[in-house]
Formats: sequence, C-alpha cells, structure tokens
Amino acid sequence: MTTPHHPNDFLHDLRTRSAAEGGVFWINDDLLAVFEPDAARKVSAANWQGLLMSDRFVDMIRRRRSTQVPWAHVRTEWRTKLHTLATAEHHAGLITRMQQTIDAHLGDDIDLVLLAQDAAVQALLPIALSGLTARETAWIVQDLNQKLTRLIDRPPGSGLRHQLHFGAVQFRAGLVVRRVLRERASGRRARECDLADPFVDLLPALGMDRALDVVTAVLTAIGGPPGAAAASTLYELARQPKWAHRLTVELGKVDPDEFCAAPVKTAPLTHRFVKEVLRMWSPPLLLMRHARTSFDLGSTTLEEGRGYVLSPHMIHRDHRFWRDADTFDPDRFLPGTPHGPLGRGCYVPFGWAPKKCIGADIGTVQLMALCYLMCMRYQLLVPDAERVTMAYRFAPVPQEFHGQLTLR
Ligand code: HEM
Repeated sequence: MTTPHHPNDFLHDLRTRSAAEGGVFWINDDLLAVFEPDAARKVSAANWQGLLMSDRFVDMIRRRRSTQVPWAHVRTEWRTKLHTLATAEHHAGLITRMQQTIDAHLGDDIDLVLLAQDAAVQALLPIALSGLTARETAWIVQDLNQKLTRLIDRPPGSGLRHQLHFGAVQFRAGLVVRRVLRERASGRRARECDLADPFVDLLPALGMDRALDVVTAVLTAIGGPPGAAAASTLYELARQPKWAHRLTVELGKVDPDEFCAAPVKTAPLTHRFVKEVLRMWSPPLLLMRHARTSFDLGSTTLEEGRGYVLSPHMIHRDHRFWRDADTFDPDRFLPGTPHGPLGRGCYVPFGWAPKKCIGADIGTVQLMALCYLMCMRYQLLVPDAERVTMAYRFAPVPQEFHGQLTLR
C-alpha cells in the first residue's frame, strides 16, 4: 500500500473517498476499504467463520496437523475468565494501580500520552498476566512500551543495533510468559485469576508456542488501544472544561464502593463521556485483514487472499450515519436524541463479531476509573489545551500533550 506523505492526509483522503464512493471502494489494486457498517459486519462474520488456530511450528516442519483448536474456544476461555474479573474488588484494583502510577509523577511536567499509556498498562497487566516478580513485570512492560513507541511514531532509534535490541526485548518478554506458563503447569508457581491461566490446562492441546501466541495476543491488545483511549480521555477532559465539571459533579455524588461495583449504572454521564471519546477517537484507526474466503459485496467482489481494511473511526465520523459527526457531545448517547447513532452497526469501537474485542467491558471501566481519578483526586493542568491537536498514527494520538497533575 502506498501511503501519502503524512498519515493525517491519508486519513483525510480515505474519508473523502468513502463519502464519495459509499463506504466500499478499492484503495489500491490490493486493498478494499469496507467502511460501510452492514458490509463490515457481514465481511467479519464470513471471514472468521470456523477459524482454527494455526498448526504448531514443529508440526508444520514435520508436515503433520496439530490438535485442532477453534479460535472460538480460546475466546470462550477469555470471556469466562473476564466474567470472574468483573467484580467491585477487581475494579478497585484497577483504580489503585492507576493511582499509584499517576501519584509517582505528581507535580512533574509530563508527557500525558506516555503517562496515560503507562497508567493503562500497569492497571491492566495483572488482568492479562499476574503474579509476576518486579523484574518480570519490568521486562513485559518494556516490550509493550517499545512496541507502542513504534506505533505512535516516536522511533527511539533505528539501524541494526536498534533492531537487535528490539528483538532481544521481545524475546525476553516471550521467555517470561513461557516460564510463567511452565511453572504454573508444574506447580512451582501459584495459579492466578488472569487471562493467561486457562491456557495452562490447555498446554497439552495447544503446545507452548500456541499458548504463548494466545497470551501475547492479550498483552498486545492491552499495550495499544487502552493507552491510546486513555490519552484521548485526558485530551477531552483538558479541552472540555464544561464536561469535566459535569463529570466532577456526577462523580462527587457517587459512593466509591457503588462506583466500583457498578460504574455504568452509578455514573451514566461519565459512561456517555467515555463512549463519546471512543466514538471520536477510536483506536486502532485501521484494521488490516486478509480475506480467508471470497465475498460478494454487491458493488464489488473480494476474492480469497486479497486484503481489506475495516475502521470503526471511519464509520464513527461518517456524516451519513452521525449528525454533527465531528462534534464532541456525550449527550448524543441519551435515548432519542437526533444526533445519536442511526443503528447498532454505526457504533463499533470494539470491532465486529466473531473477533470483537473481548475487553470491551473492562476497557470501558478502566476509562471511567481514569475519569474518576481525574475528577476526584487530581487537578489536570495543560497549558494552552485548546491548541493541542490530534495526529493519526496507529490510533489518534494527541501531539505535544504536556501538563501537570496535582492533588485536589
Ligand atoms: C478502550 C479499550 C479498548 C479498545 C478501544 C479495544 C479495541 C479493540 C478492537 C477494535 C479490536 C479488533 C476487533 C476486530 O477485529 O473486529 C480488539 C481486539 C481485541 N481486544 Fe481490545 N480494545 C480495548 C481494550 C482491550 C482490553 C482491556 C483487552 C483485554 C483485557 C482487550 C483484548 C482484546 C483481544 C484479545 C482482541 C483480539 C480478539 C480476537 O482476536 O478474537 N482489548 N480490541
């Protein structure tokens, strides 16, 4: 795919073409844009139907089949575990971990994008993989941070030396995951209530390499979108003082224990705010996929093996589906408003079944918990907040977003 000189221009071009061509169009000879809600839903459903995990590396070399593991089975294990993690106690843990991360930077002039990323990763890591030593945690976090740094276009270095370092950090994080799984299986390490644990019992069927892939999928997922969404949440809180005030009033009346037990129910305005942040600034911007089968999309056919791209962001900013699509207004999610979603398929920050994000609920709670801390515990000071702009990287990322956090 040829990318024009600047990612913001590229996104702008895609939006213009999408509006002119009805949401489904060829970006180039190899890549079909599917930015129309119904088509995106249908393509996702058909493309992933009956998806199996790839064969193990060792079996590929020996040209034999591995034990077949449906991807739906992996997702069921994750979802069952997430259900047990959706408690007041675990939600309180999220808040505490974010608070500890932010407290460590009180009074400093800090890069708020990096702070948001760090707070999100530190809050979510124990949900993905817990019971780590301080050193193991540092190694995993270093790997997630270096991947994110690449994605948000702040290359820490280039050249062979940098590539080797990048690979070494990634390899070391993989070794940590393997060791954790192996030691839990042999009883040398305690079992934990996290998203990795179900795969300890499935090790005989999966093999270590596929179990590593499954755990890495969750680690990668918590390393990207949640931090980007947290940065966008801070961005809107800094730029929308009226909304920040409304949230402070709502959250000031909420009992903290009740908030932890049922955040969406106790703080509906804060929930709408988070939903609107995720509509305006959905991460990741583009989901690149390969067609596993051929589809007839009416206006065109997508043949097996060709690429297509989905984008919650494009649908959320499409004026055909959202009135005042570029205006930040959480109240559009109140029932019956004229500028609300035109249908269920128009609001898709967590993607499409059967690959839809498994962390939608916990991700939403984490962003609401961030709002809680920002409105109840901290004062966020961003000089010239109205001049901070968003750049389109792997996700929308606020530029030159520096500020200071003090206690209220
Ligand atoms: C606000 C935060 C988050 C956003 C915006 C987000 C968004 C997304 C999106 C758009 C996808 C791709 C869906 C598709 O292909 O149709 C995805 C996949 C995924 N997300 Fe999230 N996510 C968030 C938080 C989380 C969290 C907290 C977790 C884990 C606890 C998580 C775990 C995953 C996993 C494992 C997948 C891959 C699912 C699969 O391949 O079957 N996400 N996410």
